[in-house]
Amino acid sequence: MKRSDNFAFDDLQALLRFGHGKLTDTCFLLLNIADAKAAGEWLRTAPISSAITATPVPDTALQIAFSAEGLRAMGLQQSIIDDFSDEFIVGMAGDENRSRRLGDVGDNAPQHWSWGGQPNQVPHILLLLYAHKEGIDPWKKTVEGKTFSRAFQLLSILPTDDLGSLEPFGFVDGVSQPKIDWAGQQSSDQHERDRYSNMLAAGEVILGYPNEYGLYTTRPLIDPGKDSLASKLPDAEDEPALKDFGRNGSYLVIRQLHQDVSGFWQFIDKVSGSDLEKRDQLAARMVGRNRDGSPLAPLTAEPIPGIALKSKDNHFTYELDPIGNRCPIGSHIRRANPRSGDLPLGVFGFISRLIKIFGFGLKRPDEDLIASSRFHRLLRRGRAYGPILSPEDAVKPEAPEAERGLQFICLVANISRQFEFVQNAWFMSSKFGGLQQERDPLLGIREPLINDNKTDQFNQPAASGPAQKTCNLPQFVTLRGGAYFFMPGLRALQYIAASPTSKSGDQP
Ligand code: HEM
Repeated sequence: MKRSDNFAFDDLQALLRFGHGKLTDTCFLLLNIADAKAAGEWLRTAPISSAITATPVPDTALQIAFSAEGLRAMGLQQSIIDDFSDEFIVGMAGDENRSRRLGDVGDNAPQHWSWGGQPNQVPHILLLLYAHKEGIDPWKKTVEGKTFSRAFQLLSILPTDDLGSLEPFGFVDGVSQPKIDWAGQQSSDQHERDRYSNMLAAGEVILGYPNEYGLYTTRPLIDPGKDSLASKLPDAEDEPALKDFGRNGSYLVIRQLHQDVSGFWQFIDKVSGSDLEKRDQLAARMVGRNRDGSPLAPLTAEPIPGIALKSKDNHFTYELDPIGNRCPIGSHIRRANPRSGDLPLGVFGFISRLIKIFGFGLKRPDEDLIASSRFHRLLRRGRAYGPILSPEDAVKPEAPEAERGLQFICLVANISRQFEFVQNAWFMSSKFGGLQQERDPLLGIREPLINDNKTDQFNQPAASGPAQKTCNLPQFVTLRGGAYFFMPGLRALQYIAASPTSKSGDQP
């Protein structure tokens, strides 16, 4: 039987399978646990949405995720928490080196965040509510029920707004996502993965399943002989004698990213000499797509697993645009997902592979510098916030200031190898794919390096002649808050709910 036939969708929170895109009204709550027993009581019957398909499609959804502090506050044994990854336990803002790697310095530094920036300020719970237009208030009332106010302390409601399919700079967002290989059909063997595939092993996003290395990501496993509460958890596939607390769960990364929309468009307008065509072209090249979401890179006729051949927005890799004449190497989407396979571009067949393995035949500096995309994919589930400001209005000097941005959310099975790697090595590093003096054009901080080398440029290679260089890019995006959460499977959620009243919490 293929795994998709028996994939435990009923134990999976829906957000792992669906983006709830039609549920345009949202309310993201940051909560602390005020009374763990009352919280357990609420959790036992909370209408958390599972990933099973239903007809008609539900018109509301509810998802929940816990920080390490939240799991502790629910009375989970420390030994279980210790088996989560270090990044999750230490937290997004809990280590200066991590902050430096993520670009969380200067105006982005945790001490300036409005939430989550101090160790004792990490929210216990992120509760995500979704409903149809105008439907969020009644849904919130239903969700809260009786025990809610006794169980939780509301820290804040994160702003979210319905901007249609756009993000605040005015580009269509949410176009490219990995396709989860629910059936476990695709090989993880590097000999069969020279080229890019958009199909991603379930274990790259969901704990308890093989990842792209063919391995199981570390997560808490419990001996049911020592903890009777664990008997209801799923079995660990790789350790059948143990129960898997992580299975069907995922890490949820959230970052509130403020976008300076007028600053972005006014800068681009200035360097384009207020020429509309040049302005749109530069902005598109920074993103890697036009505002309507269409890609700059040419579509390819070669099949790409996990992307329909007829997809006009996604059926491309960068093989037909190796030096970035069409879609610059430093553009946001090319950094975010270089669409690379296990071997660099242009390496086909046995001889070519051998030459590459022995390090000969390097034609361009970028050839060996971009890691295979499949180990660094993210399932994005963010939402925008703030009033819409069109690029046409944003360039006007009197453009109204406002808090606008993205509640960036991604789901991953390994925070450091996926989210932190992309953020650090591909966005914030000034060395990427042969580039030297630039970081991500949308997200990058612009501080020079210790040796004073600049990092505030953006290069557009030209088909003939030197690259077109844009200098002195300001910082367009500032971090307002963020945290790492764990979104448990529904059976693990019942374990958490029972923890405050069970004896297991007292076991050594
Ligand atoms: C305010 C901040 C951001 C803005 C305005 C922004 C905007 C965009 C836009 C317009 C696209 C193209 C549409 C699409 O393919 O879905 C995109 C793609 C993408 N972004 Fe961002 N983004 C932001 C932050 C981030 C962050 C923080 C990450 C990860 C750490 C990220 C990762 C990605 C990925 C993985 C893609 C898809 C690339 C592909 O598969 O081709 N973005 N973003």
